[in-house]
Order: sequence, then structure tokens, then C-alpha cells
Amino acid sequence: MAYYFNEPSHTFGEYLLVPGYSSTQCIPQNVSLKTPLVKFKKGEESEIMLNIPLTSAIMQSVSDDGMAVALAKEGGISFIYGSQSIENEAAMVAKVKSYKSGFVTSAANLKPNSTLEEVVELKEKTGYSTMAVTEDGTANGKLIGIVTSRDYRVTRMDFKTQVSEFMTPFDKLTYAHSDITLKEANNIIWDNKLNMLPLVDRDQKLKYMVFRKDYSANKENKNELIDSQKRYVVGAGINTRDFAERVPALIEAGADVLCIDSSEGFSEWQKITIEYIHKNFGENIKVGAGNVVDKDGFLFLAEAGADFVKVGIGGGSICITREQKGIGRGQATALIDVVEARNEYFEKTGVYIPVCSDGGIVHDYHVTLALAMGADFMMLGRYFSRFDESPTNKVNINGNYMKEYWGEGSNRARNWQRYDLGGDKKLSFEEGVDSYVPYAGSLKDNVTITLNKVRSTMCNCGTLTISELQKNAKITLVSATSIVEGSSHDVILKDNHYNTQQ
Ligand code: IMP
Repeated sequence: MAYYFNEPSHTFGEYLLVPGYSSTQCIPQNVSLKTPLVKFKKGEESEIMLNIPLTSAIMQSVSDDGMAVALAKEGGISFIYGSQSIENEAAMVAKVKSYKSGFVTSAANLKPNSTLEEVVELKEKTGYSTMAVTEDGTANGKLIGIVTSRDYRVTRMDFKTQVSEFMTPFDKLTYAHSDITLKEANNIIWDNKLNMLPLVDRDQKLKYMVFRKDYSANKENKNELIDSQKRYVVGAGINTRDFAERVPALIEAGADVLCIDSSEGFSEWQKITIEYIHKNFGENIKVGAGNVVDKDGFLFLAEAGADFVKVGIGGGSICITREQKGIGRGQATALIDVVEARNEYFEKTGVYIPVCSDGGIVHDYHVTLALAMGADFMMLGRYFSRFDESPTNKVNINGNYMKEYWGEGSNRARNWQRYDLGGDKKLSFEEGVDSYVPYAGSLKDNVTITLNKVRSTMCNCGTLTISELQKNAKITLVSATSIVEGSSHDVILKDNHYNTQQ
């Protein structure tokens, strides 16, 4: 006879936290959100600690190099999507690792024979008024000059005038060598009253631009997640098919941690992949695995050598796996079960394996609940897809700004490696949808608000760290009627500003 779980599976929206005693020291400013990313032995610290418990999903519509830099600045980590060529994924990782705060790769570039008309078009398209003129018109070509809006007058000049006639030529520019520090660049900017300082290599090739505003902006990121060489920390998604080629390329590019991206991780494919990586590249290459939704799945991946385990099947906002295949489990129940297995495993072996709750975070308080239930960090797709930094288009739908967001199992992404069970190397049916999400502004503003709420609730629970919350939280299931009571009710709202928040 089939095995039946005793209780129905629940999701985050069915639980609440019950406050505990909080002392006067229990204030949001004293809360630490540091949390382990990869496994460690009792008494030791994880080799990679996140400064905030948020990671961005391994998805085309979420995690590229731009997202990775923005999230690392706030203390979290992105896993660059693996459903692209090995070269492109490695290039994105390399871009994050070579990113220097305040050192901007020129985004608007011209050739000396470009016309004023092209300058105006480029400004319109990119929004940038400072443009590099390089020999070949690329961001890293030989620097010939710079054009800013001070160099031309559209009302007085012929649109066919070539850039070389009105740019500031290289020999009139103040520039510096690309190996200087941001502080040194900033001093040159201030001493020479510049708006922008171009940085070139020995062959006069343009490497970066440093803008006056970026130095102070850079100083604001106290929480940023950096490695021992002060480079941003970044993860990368892999699959169980081409790992022998993909993994070395990602390691070479500088990926700090890998994660097998699969819709269902309780499989021999994952064991083969993890063992291959640890055998060929050493135990210091960190690799997370998943997704699982029960104790058996966790134990299997723990024994296989996973550095963290990801939980969640069917709870993602764009996910239709439960409808299509009838597999999955309510996210909260799945998490609670896996955390119990993780704690038992820790007791038995002295090895702590961080657990990631992946998908289904709808409200900010779900983050706090997931942490209280024992997750060490979350993985979020929809949440991050709404921000400026996600790689997708911002579109205007009936007067409202939206961002596009699509699943890896949708026809649009066709990430068959995530779903394939060793069969026909194609996506035989869809497990995800293509959608819009309301545009929400910058990552920094949104993450700040979300984490302010998390810190505040942690204080209500009388806890200052995530591990205290995991040990001391009191959690209650709520009835359907009391869920209604939890929102504003029996009043007529004057405006629905509140409803647009998470
Ligand atoms: P969200 O944060 O609720 O949007 O969920 C994001 C998570 O959904 C990802 O991290 C994946 O685990 C999962 N996911 C991504 N694409 C698909 C898909 O096409 N079908 C099912 N699940 C998906």
C-alpha cells in the first residue's frame, strides 16, 4: 500500500509567528542577518557566510551579472542562470568577479566617424550623455576621445557632422591608468573638477569610466558580500548533463559556489554530479543540490556530499509542476520536514548542512517565517524579477509598468536540462509559465524594506540572530477565518497604496 503522510501539507500563508519576550536590547539595529551558505563542522564557521539570507533564483529572467552585482552589494548572492551556453554563463561570472565598484564599463560608445545624428540617437536609447569614442566603437577599444552634451548643439550643427570634429580628443583629456584605486581616481576627479575620469591600459584601450557620483554611492554598501580579494561573491547554476565541461569553465571564471538546478533532486543524477565535482575539482568546490521536499530526499543529498540543500517543488509563482505532474508538497511542510532531517543529521554527524527554501515567497513576512522554520536562506525568483536590475524588459501594460518573468520550464526558456530524466533531451511538456510582474523599482530600496520587516519581527520574537530565531520561534497554524482577520477588514479603503506592497 502507498505511504500516506499524516498531515496535509501547508504553505507559509497558513502560519503566523507568536511574539516572545523582547528586552530593551532587542532592537532592529542590533539584529544580525548573517547566515551560512555552505556546510561546516560543529564549532566551525561556514566558509561562505551571507550577510543577508537572500539569494536570487537560477533563472534567465532573474539572475544575470547585473543582478549578481546589485545583490552582492546588499550582502546576498545570485546564482547566474545555467540555461545558456557555457561560454556565456562563464562570461557573466567573470564580469561579476572583475566588477569594481565605481569602475563602470562604458555603456554608450561611438566611432570617430559616427555622426551627430547617431550621438542623439544613442543618448535617446541609453539615457547616457557621456560617450566614449573608440577606434572600433566598442567599450574596450582604443580611446580616441569623449563626447558629452557640452560638445555639441543640435540647434546649431549639421546632423551629419562627424564625432571626430567636435569630441574632446584623447590628448586634451585628463585620464589615468586602469590599475589605480577608486580613492585615487576620486582625488583626480576632484582636483581637476571633472565629471568623469576615463581609465585606460598601456595600449590606450579604454577599460573603465569613473564618475564623480560613484565614490560616495560606493561607500554606502557596508553590507556587501566580497571575497578575500574584495571581489563580489557570485554563484552559478549547473545541470546534471554537461557538468564535465561547464564546471571547469565556471571555476576558471571565478564562481564561488555552484548549485545544481533541477526541478526534482532526489535522483542518482545529482549524486553522480556532486561526486564527479568533488572527485575531480576537490572538496573546496562548493555545490548545492536539490530540490527535495522530504527527509528521504535530504538524507540522500547529504550523503551524496551536497554543500547545501534546496527545498521546494511546485511552489514557485510561475510553476505549474503540480498541475502538470501532480508532484510537490506545500512549501512550509516540506521545509519543516527537511529541517528536522537536517537537525537530526547534525546531531548524528556534527556536520551542519544549510537549507535553502526555494520559491513561493509572496509576502515579506514569509522570509521571517521560513527562517523561523529552520531555513538558513531563501531563493527568490518573482521577488527579484520586479526590480530594475533583473535582465528582462520593463513594459507598459494599460498604464502600469510591468517586468517580464518566465519559468525555466516554460516554452520561452526551454531549460530541458532542469526537467529531463535522462530521456529525449527536450522539454516534452511545459512546467512553467511566461508572465508579467508589477515593476517595483530598485533592488536596494526593496531589499531594505523587506529586511527592515524581518529585523522588526525578529525583535518581536525576542531574537537577534537567525539561529536564535530558529531555536526560539513560536509558530502557529491559523484557521482560514483568521487569515481573513489578518488583512484590513470591514472598512472601506481610501486608497489602495498598501495593497501594492508585499
Ligand atoms: P518564485 O520565487 O515563487 O517565483 O519561485 C522561484 C523558483 O521557482 C525558482 O528558484 C525555481 O526553483 C522554480 N522555478 C523556476 N522556473 C520554474 C518553472 O518553469 N517551473 C517550475 N518551477 C520553476
